[in-house]
Amino acid sequence: MSENQPPPQRPIRSYVLRQGRLTRGQERAFALFWPRLGLNYQPTPLDLHALFGNTHPVHLEIGFGNGESLAAMARDNPDNNYIGIEVHRPGVGHLLMKLEEYGCSNVRVCRHDAVEVLRDMIPVRSLAGVYLFFPDPWHKKRHHKRRIVQPEFLKLLARKLCPGGFLHAATDWEDYADHMLGTLKNSPDFGNTARQGDFVPRPDYRPLTKFEQRGLRLGHGVWDLIFERR
Ligand SMILES: C[S@@+](CC[C@H](N)C(=O)[O-])C[C@H]1O[C@@H](n2cnc3c(N)ncnc32)[C@H](O)[C@@H]1O
Repeated sequence: MSENQPPPQRPIRSYVLRQGRLTRGQERAFALFWPRLGLNYQPTPLDLHALFGNTHPVHLEIGFGNGESLAAMARDNPDNNYIGIEVHRPGVGHLLMKLEEYGCSNVRVCRHDAVEVLRDMIPVRSLAGVYLFFPDPWHKKRHHKRRIVQPEFLKLLARKLCPGGFLHAATDWEDYADHMLGTLKNSPDFGNTARQGDFVPRPDYRPLTKFEQRGLRLGHGVWDLIFERR
């Protein structure tokens, strides 16, 4: 590299990789199920029909945490396919255990930065829906740039969603709810599905998550947004 060139910029990540030991059950689930359900990062688009062995609609959950919601949605909707992305290894292990418990074969799991997976592995116009439940709110103003919902992120999502596909986001942090709403309203690619006001009531398919239950106990509100790809 020439001396005049600036050093390559480190991408801004929406997460901090927390260390965490796997339980024995999670270790076992990795050993048994990762070969069948795990997706390793690759820099080229997936063949989704080949991956799932069918042409069912594909839904993506970003940052699924311990995977309770994703496993429940997959169990309740066997005619949908799901891809879950999460960087936290114990969370991935927990999801694999749940998928075994529920006997779900319609989920594939990726442990990598969701922005890179979306950018590189997900084909254009291939997703029927994207879930973003309780993304890290990055409370401090100087950290707001780490929030995953940004205009660039919405552009990327819009390319990967089918027309009529949706983004369903939920948060228990009002400032982030306002930020998401403003960013989505400014996007030419998305329209709000809310009939009254800007937010929607929690749809039945979204189970209460661990984070949400904690938030509710602390007296926080919860805001759901469902926007459709134009
Ligand atoms: C606050 S937690 C919420 C987890 C879960 N959705 C829930 O509602 O319980 C946010 C999760 O998103 C994950 N995450 C944040 N940014 C991510 C990214 N770019 N790629 C993959 N996972 C990400 C974090 O590791 C964390 O587990």
